[in-house]
Amino acid sequence: MHKISLTAILLLISTFQIAFSQENRTDWWTEARFGMFIHWGLYSGTEGIWKGERHRHFNNYAEWIKYRNRISNEEYGELAKRFVWDEIDPEEWVLQAKNAGMHYITITAKHHDGFALWDTQVGDYSFKNYDPDSRDILAELAAACKKHDMKLGFYYSHWVDWEHPYGWDHNRELTKDLTDTQFDQYWQEKVIPQLTELLSNYGEVALLWFDMWIGHEQTIVQEKQLRQFIELVRNLQPNCLINSRLGLPVTEADIDYETLGDNQLGAVYKKNPWQTPGTIAHSWGYNALENDWKSTNQLLQALINNVSLNGNFMLNIGPRADGSLPYESISRLADMGKWLDINGASIYGAGGLELRPRQHDWGKITFKKVAEKEKVFLHVFNWPLDKKLRLSGITSTPQKIYLLADKLKKPLDFTQEGPITHIQLPHRQPDHFVSVVALEFEEPISLDIEVAAESTFGGVALHAQNVLEKNLETNRLDPPNRMVSPEHINLQAEQELSWKIYLPESGSKNLSISFANPNEKGLRAEIMIGEKKLSMALEPTGKVVVEPNQDYYTEEFIDLPLGKLELSEPGYYTVKFVVKEKDEKPVRFNRIWID
Ligand code: GLC
Repeated sequence: MHKISLTAILLLISTFQIAFSQENRTDWWTEARFGMFIHWGLYSGTEGIWKGERHRHFNNYAEWIKYRNRISNEEYGELAKRFVWDEIDPEEWVLQAKNAGMHYITITAKHHDGFALWDTQVGDYSFKNYDPDSRDILAELAAACKKHDMKLGFYYSHWVDWEHPYGWDHNRELTKDLTDTQFDQYWQEKVIPQLTELLSNYGEVALLWFDMWIGHEQTIVQEKQLRQFIELVRNLQPNCLINSRLGLPVTEADIDYETLGDNQLGAVYKKNPWQTPGTIAHSWGYNALENDWKSTNQLLQALINNVSLNGNFMLNIGPRADGSLPYESISRLADMGKWLDINGASIYGAGGLELRPRQHDWGKITFKKVAEKEKVFLHVFNWPLDKKLRLSGITSTPQKIYLLADKLKKPLDFTQEGPITHIQLPHRQPDHFVSVVALEFEEPISLDIEVAAESTFGGVALHAQNVLEKNLETNRLDPPNRMVSPEHINLQAEQELSWKIYLPESGSKNLSISFANPNEKGLRAEIMIGEKKLSMALEPTGKVVVEPNQDYYTEEFIDLPLGKLELSEPGYYTVKFVVKEKDEKPVRFNRIWID
């Protein structure tokens, strides 16, 4: 019998990975919710300035400077000499991530410039060939991640490569000088061997982050090349996650998570794992000339917004060529970390409730199952002036409501009628960014996803966002950067709109309607609430001046008071609205307001 040494057995055990199904593979990632993106490469050595000239493009992404400012491979490579290796310490980045409450890091192993951050054996476009003092930064980062229990992933630009003669470069749209065979040569001689290195030499690779923001069929990349990739990844690191910017649709079993556009926050609840990559300022790589820093509050709200829709947020840092971070980044990361220390229970392992995304105007809701309990977290972006938090859509009664920041979990008073819960808040909000109210339920909670939500000051607005009719087209009069009139529905005669509302008390209610009637004559319309009917004339509304002295006018949306309506029973009502007459142009319906 052969003798097998203990070390050999241990080695076998440690390298053997059980391959999980997609659903299980992404468990840790979904649980983590918050990660760090690091854009660091030769571009960091330009800081957005090349030969005394600023970045040339209005979208001055610092990491695009090689392409934008038309820099040759050789001159660009020389930037490696600007790197201050004595000061560069990737462990610092890991500590920053940890301190910020992030659970994974994705670093640009190779960005579009084609330059490898690690000691690659493939080609000579890497630090070690341009600066003898350089070190293998990925090896150091991998070690630091291991030490601090941080998952590590690699960004790899597979499509765009400005160094390789046959990599994709947007200018090829003009020059049309790249054949499929040439691109495949780049693929086989650079991409595949480099990925093999990344997946073989740096321990566990938790995720790969590819960056082709269009489907492969719109460009030179072939589906079979992407499949070759997937096979490679699954062979070498079966549980490594792959993002949708690989160039295949999210519906593919091997696309583990969807990546939305840059800084594109979620707008709808999605069941599949998804993320937003976000920046603290504008660029991904360090840009000395930028000062449009997002506030900590904005960044926290971005994270919360995404989790409330079942998504992740990966926030980028762009260290300088000495490894340091601008104070603006450090301070925001630290503040987010402090917030998560107290409120992390509402983020990690939490997801969204399938309520309407823009239902409440005071903030966002996340949800989590803990053992047998269900917890709902109300993230209050704006502490109500009257200290009453109005929650709509949960019909089960919470066992307890408290502030997440309160260690003693002192119960907050609340009243509940049907799907409407009113929570009495203390005068001072516990957090100066976002305060979280936790609701605990003994049983699985039931939702009313149709009922229109109460607004911050009380009252209910019925509009395009909470109308019961599905897939109604909404309209805007102005270009997206000039939204001066409200989002509305163009309403044809006899086309019915309906909403569900809940009235905790009977009594008389004020009603008004906001609309524009671009026609020459008035049109009859009706609102029905339960059995009661209100008729009105929607008179022509004309125009309103948007900017003085610029001949800039848009359609006027007027608010027509409709008086009071007596509703003798509390409870659910269906509200319907219909325009009874036809004219040349449709009525533009904005909202009905009831309070
Ligand atoms: C874009 C840019 C790139 C950046 C990335 C991050 O696709 O090309 O510079 O790395 O998005 O999301």
